[in-house]
Parts: sequence; structure tokens; C-alpha cells
Amino acid sequence: MIKVATISEVPNFGKKVVSVNGQELVLVNIKGSVFAFENECPHQGSPMTSAIVKDNYVSCPRHGYRFNLSDGTCSDHPEFTLRTYPVELAGADILVDLG
Ligand code: FES
Repeated sequence: MIKVATISEVPNFGKKVVSVNGQELVLVNIKGSVFAFENECPHQGSPMTSAIVKDNYVSCPRHGYRFNLSDGTCSDHPEFTLRTYPVELAGADILVDLG
């Protein structure tokens, strides 16, 4: 796992984009639980930087597809899955497994 940020850099219900090994990830903090996913919608490639985060999903700003934060699935359009990455917290550090 690789350190990508600290928890204080990602506001509650907010997002932070980080670049790791040339790859952009979006980090989301939901009440202290952190999720990580690719910064590219699997539908038509829209950046997810201005996506809306709510409860357990993130909604693409372009056509509103909703992706589960835990596994990236889209219940309305199951043929599209947002790539997500395992996250661990080590103290204040956010660690991501890029696989
Ligand atoms: S590009 Fe994201 S829902 Fe269409």
C-alpha cells in the first residue's frame, strides 16, 4: 500500500484528487471512512472531480450515474463499474492499494 494523503487533507463529505504513479485518484471522506476511485467515469470518461458524494455513492457530474463507493457498481447501469481501490488508515495517513 502506498501513502497518498493524510486524513486532514480530505474534508468530511469532501474530495481530494491525488496523482500516484501518473494515475489520478479521487479520495472521499465519509465520516472518517475513506474511499478511493479512479478520476474517470466508466460511462464516457468524465472527470469525477466535481462528482456529488452522498451517503454511500458518488454521482457522475455528466449524466448522473451513481456508483457505489465501496465496489464501484452502478445499480441503474450494471454494465458500468467505477474502478475503486482498497484504502487503509494508518494513524493520520491514507494508504491505497493500487493493485
Ligand atoms: S460520463 Fe459519467 S455518467 Fe456519463
